[in-house]
Formats: sequence, structure tokens, C-alpha cells
Amino acid sequence: MCGIVGAVSGRNVLGVLLQGLQRLEYRGYDSCGVAVWQDGTLRTSRSTARVADLARQIDASGLHALTGIAHTRWATHGAPSTANAHPHVSPDTARPRIALVHNGIIENHDSLRAELQAAGYRFDSQTDTEVIAHLIDRLYDGDLFDAVEQAVRRLRGAYALAVLCRDEPHRIVGARSGSPLVVGLSDGECFLASDAMALAGVTDRIAYLRDGDIVDIGLAGWHVHDRDGQRRERPVQTVKILAGSTDLGPYRHFMQKEIFEQPQALADTLEGVEGIVPELFGDGAWRTFDQIDRLLILGCGTSYYAGLVGKYWIELLARIPVTVEIASEYRYRPSIPDPRTLVVTISQSGETADTLAALLHARNLGQPHTLTICNVESSAMVRESTLAYITRAGIEIGVASTKAFTTQLAALFLLALTLAQARGTLDDDALAAHLQAMRHLPRAIQGALALEPQLIAWAEQFAARDHALFLGRGLHLPIAQEGALKLKEISYIHAEAYPAGELKHGPLALVTDAMPVVTVAPTDELLAKLESNMQEVRARGGRLFVLTDADSRFDSADGVQVIRLPEHHGLLSPIVFTVPLQLLAYHAAIVRGTDIDKPRNLAKSVTVE
Ligand code: AGP
Repeated sequence: MCGIVGAVSGRNVLGVLLQGLQRLEYRGYDSCGVAVWQDGTLRTSRSTARVADLARQIDASGLHALTGIAHTRWATHGAPSTANAHPHVSPDTARPRIALVHNGIIENHDSLRAELQAAGYRFDSQTDTEVIAHLIDRLYDGDLFDAVEQAVRRLRGAYALAVLCRDEPHRIVGARSGSPLVVGLSDGECFLASDAMALAGVTDRIAYLRDGDIVDIGLAGWHVHDRDGQRRERPVQTVKILAGSTDLGPYRHFMQKEIFEQPQALADTLEGVEGIVPELFGDGAWRTFDQIDRLLILGCGTSYYAGLVGKYWIELLARIPVTVEIASEYRYRPSIPDPRTLVVTISQSGETADTLAALLHARNLGQPHTLTICNVESSAMVRESTLAYITRAGIEIGVASTKAFTTQLAALFLLALTLAQARGTLDDDALAAHLQAMRHLPRAIQGALALEPQLIAWAEQFAARDHALFLGRGLHLPIAQEGALKLKEISYIHAEAYPAGELKHGPLALVTDAMPVVTVAPTDELLAKLESNMQEVRARGGRLFVLTDADSRFDSADGVQVIRLPEHHGLLSPIVFTVPLQLLAYHAAIVRGTDIDKPRNLAKSVTVE
């Protein structure tokens, strides 16, 4: 998704700007650009190719500047094109006065465009962003900060902005509402970025702006006004920026690399967990756990599926009722708030707009207890929550979430154990046994990864199909759902997941020999029920692909192909069964030749609604 970097320095800032864009690249984008102040003019360079091409373009043009802004765009309003790429300038003349980059969506752009067109502004793009550039130019009366402050009062929607003015060198004005923006500080230099990660290697001294803030950065320092125009201090923190390795090593894709990193990611997530104590989730967590009697778990996509598994574990082990909701639905629903609910947000990035908004919504409704399970310590959701559990998956670059999901599951299992301890529903021996089983996870995942050749054989059969069904029951239904999401997301094969018991209530009508049916079938108390659902598929000529346990009674037969997973602790099986489904999706996508790490239309971090 869109990314912003801005820099004011005594040295050439183009390196910082381009490096920042490169660090944000993995989130997905379709065009990029920079604008700099050079010798009294604003010069821009934009491209629909990669940041590396933009860098070559800039090199060739000889740009050199002490102040500049840069952007990666993920199209919302207007197709991916150079004309729609940021920065946008105003007025549209050979010597523009304003250049600006924007993340977010302006909802009232149509009415503003009409007003500005009537005032004589010419529009060059289909974006909502160009409206803001012209609006600031129209309001400009010698002070950029003043013009931006007035302009944002007229905007409805979400924005993070960085604005340059031809007449005010060494100054950038930023503003945010609904989209993140941070200030980075270093000796004699000041930066803006939509994510601290863009400034990794440049500075780790970060100030997080609040919604409604307008910030002025320059060589002499920085200051902030809040939404009401009052001067405010924003604390500067030294943050640990999740940079990680962005090298592919021996792998073909980041997704493949990240699937194979799971044993290490799980081991890292469990490192330092010496026992089950509330402090795993933050200081004072015991007090919170004492004051709640329900949980509400919120997330999107894969993180939502993790929440569904978490519900099962928490209700089973800690006997606390749990509701799981898709964040984008919860935030607009007239729900009934309960101050004794622990609101748990789950997010790989910690910046997903819907989940962040749902967290703030829950708090505004009067629910003070919040916990975020997240892979990025410096993210907005972690900052906005009273408690946090940071998974140690390392940077995840592939758009398809893999190691982030399995480490989220590990965190949720730890939460279930911790709540069980707080409620007294598990004794010390049982807790120790569950924790011991968790320590075995990296080995069990290694065993699941060794099944790759068998999954390649399955993937070759799937790649020729347009549709697939995934079945699961109980604890493994969310795993079937996650398997279907992975397959559709990267191979573009239409896939749906159902609780196996629902088959005869509709989806069975779709089953023919052209419809592969993946069944997540561990040896548990629902196995007999699942078996009859599988018979229903076979009786209609459907072809079954069964994932089951080492000791299972299933055998391959005509129309039934079976893969057995390595031994593992029963309750943790969702984590182990996830791995073959990831490999199936990955290899089906390889056969179909899709852009695996950057599937069409998708972005890694969904920072707009
Ligand atoms: C997963 O493969 C997806 N790319 C997507 O569903 C993702 O999980 C979702 O957008 C939520 O992201 P988050 O975990 O960063 O909040």
C-alpha cells in the first residue's frame, strides 16, 4: 500500500528517500515518485516501474537536493499510471508552487474538484490527491503550515500528507488523520515517514503523530499543532525497527522462504517464555485478566482466521466466552459495549486500517481492556493497546501471510494457557505439559515441510482446475478457511471453505470430478462425522485430497489421496496442518506462473479502508 518518506537535511536526501521507498516496497505498490526542492524550483520524477528504475531515472537526471518527499502508490482513485503517481503538484504550470504526497482516501474529492475547477485549476490526474495539492495552493498566503492547516479542515476521509513549497526551502509540512505518519530525528536532520521502518538505518528516534496533528519539519527542528491548532509535544522514542533480512537466499520467492522459516519463527516466538505468567502480555496484565469475563477478538483476513482458532482454544482451556469478528464489520455495527470485555486485535502489520479503527472504536465505546497480538512492535496497534504480545516471526514480505499466521496461533495458545491459569481451569502440571508440547512445534513443522514433494504432486493436479473446496470441522475449520484463502490469493483458483457438516446444505451441488475437495482430517473426536461427509463427496464422484494424522485409518484409494502429517500434540494441530496448505497454494501458484509475492490487486499492509 501507499508509503511516504520525506527528508530535510544538510546533505543530499535522495539516497534517504529512495532507500526509504525500497524499505516500503514489500507492501505492494504500482507506481512511485519523488519531488525535491532544487535551486528555487520543485522538480519531480515519477515512474510506473520499480523503485530501482526510479533511482536510475533520478541518477540520469542529476537531481540533488537537501529537501524532498517521496511516495509509493497503490491505486485507489485512478488507474496505475505516471499521471496518477505521486507527488502531485499545483498549479499545473512549468513552475509549480506546491508538491505533495498522500496516503489515504479523500471522500469529498468530487465537490472539492468542482470548486477548484471553477476557480481555474486544471487537473492532470484522476486522483483524489491532486485536489489537496490545488486546495493548498489556493489557500497559500506565504506560510505553508498555515495553508495546510486550513486545507485539512476541508478534507473528509483519511490522509497522511507530506507537502513541499517552492517558496519555502528546507521545510516540509505533514498532517495525518486516519493514516499513520511519524517524525524521525537525527542530528541536524528531520524526516517524515508513513512507517518507522522506512527510516531503518537512518534514525531510530521516532515521534508518532496523533490523529489530527499537523507537523512542521525543518533544519532547525520541528513542531506540532493538534486538530484545534494548539501547539503540542509528541514524545520522541527510541524504537526497535523491524528491518530483518530482505535477501531471498536460496529461495525463489519470499513466500517460500517464509514458509520454511516457520520452525525458527516459532522457536523465536517462544524464546524467553519460561513459564505461563500474565506478564507475557505486558506489565499489569494480571490485573486486566482479573477484571474481564469475555473476549472480543478482531482481525482481517488471515489474522481473523487465527482469532477463530484462538476462540476454540480459549473457550476449551480457560472456559471464557469469546466472540470473533471481522474488524471492518465490527467498526460499523451498533454493538453492545461491555467494559469487562478484553478486546484483542490480531494483526501481522499492526497498521491495517480496519483493525486499527475497530480497536479505537471499541475503546471509544468504553471498553478499556485492549491487547494486540502483532509482529511489529513499533506499530500503531501496539501503541494504542494497553497490553501486547509481539510475535517474533521476523519481517514478512510475501503478501500471503504464512509465518505471521503460525506465530499468531502460538501467541493465542499462550493466551489460552495464561487465562486458564488465571481462572484456575488448568493445574500446573497440565500447563507445563502444554508448554512442553509447544516447544516441540518447530520439530513438528520441520516434519510437515518435508512433505513438500507430495504437495507438489497435489499442486500439479490443482493448477489445472478453476475451483476447489476445502472442508474442516471444529478447531480445523479456520485452517480449511485459511487454506482456501491462500490458494485463491496467490494462484487465483477460486476456493471456498466450509464446515464439513454444511456440505449437504448447499455446496454439495458443486461437487463433480472436476472439483478437488481438500479435507483437513486430524484424528480427533469429529473424525467419524468427517468421514461421512467425505463419503458424500466420493458418492458424487468428487476427488478427495485428505490431510490427516500419522496414526489415521485413512488410506489412499481410487479418487482419494492421503498425506499423513508428522506426530504432534493434538491441540496444536491447527499450526501443523497449516503448513501443507501453504505449500499446496505456493506450488499451485508456481505451476500457474502467477506473481506469488505480489499477487494482483493486493497489498501487504492494507492501510486504507
Ligand atoms: C493474508 O494472506 C492476507 N494477505 C491478508 O488477509 C492479511 O492477513 C490481512 O490483510 C490482515 O493483515 P494484518 O494481519 O497485517 O492486519
